[in-house]
Amino acid sequence: MTDSVFKNDIFKGKVAFVTGGGSGICYGITKMLGEHGCRTVILGRRKANIEKAAAELTKSTGQKCLGIPADVRQLETLEAAVKQTVAEFGRIDFVVAGAAGNFLAPIDGLSSNAFRTVLEIDTIGTYNTFKATIPELLKTKGAFQAISATLHYKGHPLQAHVSAAKAGVDALVRVIAVEYGPRGIRANCIAPGPIAGTEGMDRLMPKEYLDAHLKQIPLQRYGRIDEIASASTYLFSPAATYVTGTTLVVDGADYHMSGSHRAEMDPATYQRKDGKGVSKL
Ligand code: COA
Repeated sequence: MTDSVFKNDIFKGKVAFVTGGGSGICYGITKMLGEHGCRTVILGRRKANIEKAAAELTKSTGQKCLGIPADVRQLETLEAAVKQTVAEFGRIDFVVAGAAGNFLAPIDGLSSNAFRTVLEIDTIGTYNTFKATIPELLKTKGAFQAISATLHYKGHPLQAHVSAAKAGVDALVRVIAVEYGPRGIRANCIAPGPIAGTEGMDRLMPKEYLDAHLKQIPLQRYGRIDEIASASTYLFSPAATYVTGTTLVVDGADYHMSGSHRAEMDPATYQRKDGKGVSKL
């Protein structure tokens, strides 16, 4: 690490616990924390994937990363992971609740179970992640971050489930900041906009809308994973010790503009003209 704007060893001796750290944005966050001296733990549902990602992170950062299989919908798997983390590293200073689920579907194509599944992963998963790590965060006077989104700031077709889930995440984090601030814990959200090379962009943004969407982003480009990782590093760093209960939007001002793909939809039904996201019921 030579070209970081942050001091290389700002997180020396610290330990981060990251759900969803096996890929995408949360992998990038874990990598940057490791590059600044933090030992890390990543959690994901698939054992082989999470262990492979942890081995890569250990190699690329020079700091040990532990991969633990866990499902954020099951509190007991997170509690077991916390025990394993403390046995291995002795402490937890930073927690990132980043595990998320998403797909495009209109309300009449969403079963009650589909809606509940996304709330369980995003909202209850964030709650469970905090709940499982409270005892360790209290000991270290640590910090909590949740990965949110911007789509629920407006009505966003085909995203009822995720909009409701992320609004819940934002509200929960504000309450955590207020309830736990007096005991030394900070809590914030990061709301990424369109970030290139993520599953969200690849799966949820149809290729035919990319050009129109890009022109509409005030900074005229998609974000990079390392730009979200920098936001996370800042919020965990000593530069942000008075920042809590807030959401840091990192989106090139994208959310101030209406989603271009909406113009490509049939407004009578909000079905996409490419046939995707059409009711299954
Ligand atoms: N449209 C409508 N409903 C859908 C759907 C779609 N595209 N994909 C899944 N569902 C429904 C399923 O049919 C099921 O409902 P049902 O039981 O009434 O049929 C419900 O959602 C749960 O699906 P299931 O596959 O059993 O859940 P899971 O726990 O295995 O997977 C998901 C969770 C659905 C969120 C899955 O997309 C996932 O694992 N995503 C993880 C990665 C991800 O989404 N990353 C995006 C980050 S932006």
